Amino acid sequence: MRVAALFPAAGLGLRLGPGTPKAFRTLAGHSLLQHAVRAVCADDRVDRVMVAVPEGNVAETAADLSQLVRVPVSVVAGGVLRQDSVANLLAALDPSVSHVLVHDAARPFVPVSVVGRVLDALAEGQIAVIPVLPVVDTVKEVTGGRDSGERVVATLDRSVLRAVQTPQGFSLEVLVRAFAQLPPGLAATDESSLVERIGVPVVAVAGDQLAFKVTTPFDLAVADSVAVQPDAFAAPPPESSAAGLASPTTVGGDSP
Ligand code: C5P
Repeated sequence: MRVAALFPAAGLGLRLGPGTPKAFRTLAGHSLLQHAVRAVCADDRVDRVMVAVPEGNVAETAADLSQLVRVPVSVVAGGVLRQDSVANLLAALDPSVSHVLVHDAARPFVPVSVVGRVLDALAEGQIAVIPVLPVVDTVKEVTGGRDSGERVVATLDRSVLRAVQTPQGFSLEVLVRAFAQLPPGLAATDESSLVERIGVPVVAVAGDQLAFKVTTPFDLAVADSVAVQPDAFAAPPPESSAAGLASPTTVGGDSP
């Protein structure tokens, strides 16, 4: 396996409020992007790092990250949508790469155990792997706009729902094929949904609360606390039960 870790980090982070693009906000003296790159590279099966950032940040990011990790780093300009940024990363990939991890720069504290579970599943022959967590809230489907008032259509069975994290792992061939068949105008929130669209089975492994995404000012405040003592929040190893998701569980696709 030759593994490239791809980091879409070109979002402006508008939900965080005005200021520096999200990936460059700092926690405990390091940017979200620096934390995220270091966290994923803690698994030494990662052979190279590729990052998509806003156009104006390309040169400084390349210089900065090259000093941070032991593997080669390439930096490209991102695009308008997240999938445009990932497409730019795929276009710049060295063809010797066999597998990719796609990790949100906005998830700075993903534990190496999560990266390891995704890579283990790929090494065992899976071609699309996502880390997930059980959903703790009751989830409703609604109709109508927020302004006009929403009405509840249904209460979903949360025992079969999962919240999806990153890094998501793919064989390069599968992810390239999914992007080649992307219909114009579809805005995806993750890569596994694109792979599901082309009928590829996606398997789930256990995620971790520490892999939370920084989206709102509240998340940034939580991340500030975690940055000071991440080990205090480390989860125990998952059980090998279905709820623990220690072993891969198929969540989509046509065939095993
Ligand atoms: O906006 P959201 O938090 O869902 O973004 C997830 C990740 O995708 C972030 O790391 C963000 O920087 C990245 N992104 C990107 N290019 C965009 C939009 C988002 O690389 N155009």
